[in-house]
Amino acid sequence: MNKRRRVYEGKAKTLYEGPEPGTLIQHFKDDATALNGKKHSLIDGKGVLNNRISEYLFLRLGEIGVPTHFIKRLNMREQLIREVEIIPLEVVVRNVAAGSLATRLGLEEGKPLPRSIVEFYYKADALNDPMVSEEHITAFGWATPQEIDEVMSLALRVNDFMVGLFLGIGIRLVDFKVEFGRLYDNELVRVVLADEISPDSCRLWDVATGDKLDKDRFRKDLGGVLEAYQEVARRLGVLTENPRPKGAGPVLVASNGQKPH
Ligand code: TMP
Repeated sequence: MNKRRRVYEGKAKTLYEGPEPGTLIQHFKDDATALNGKKHSLIDGKGVLNNRISEYLFLRLGEIGVPTHFIKRLNMREQLIREVEIIPLEVVVRNVAAGSLATRLGLEEGKPLPRSIVEFYYKADALNDPMVSEEHITAFGWATPQEIDEVMSLALRVNDFMVGLFLGIGIRLVDFKVEFGRLYDNELVRVVLADEISPDSCRLWDVATGDKLDKDRFRKDLGGVLEAYQEVARRLGVLTENPRPKGAGPVLVASNGQKPH
């Protein structure tokens, strides 16, 4: 039935050839994986939520001038994006000690970091995405020094914006992972935000209760994965029955996570 050409099959997304040259269709699946694919489950409806959440965040980031691959959402699970050459790095920005940083450096989970920290991991499943430094990145030609500067500066802008956005809906942005791509535009090459931003790729803690509203619920077998993603979508205002008017902001919630009366 599906005659579109599949160009890439990832763990949580599939990329298909788009309708125009230079475009792709990004399809969000319900698959959840952890431990580099060793743990796998289907979470019914996760793809639909991630599609909406990522659309919302990419649109807001685009509005503040962050260049992205996003063109438009096509349906419940798919979005039209610009084809980019992915820079083979997972760029992690951290505000609060958690996850692998807390383990590696023996930090207490939940402690705010002295400043936001950017880390690079080389995208290589067979190697378990090892952490790398700028030295490795430039020596092996994964990105140029100029591209690293651009990636760092965009990642920190994304972080500043998202910390504020999530705080406004009672959520602490602990850390997140983003990817960037090269967009070829005639002779011009631009670094743009690519992939997705969703509870799959962020740590999001409820400000009032400390509850985890992200993929750690799956990684740590805490249950309620879909409910947590739904809560993030609801607070962002992307889960309303009727489409929200153009330009509408996120739904304000009190610090207890409830909508003000
Ligand atoms: P970490 O603490 O496990 O290194 O993860 C840091 C952040 O990056 C966290 O928000 C989860 C996200 N992340 C991904 O999106 N994909 C990955 O493969 C990994 C390892 C982390």
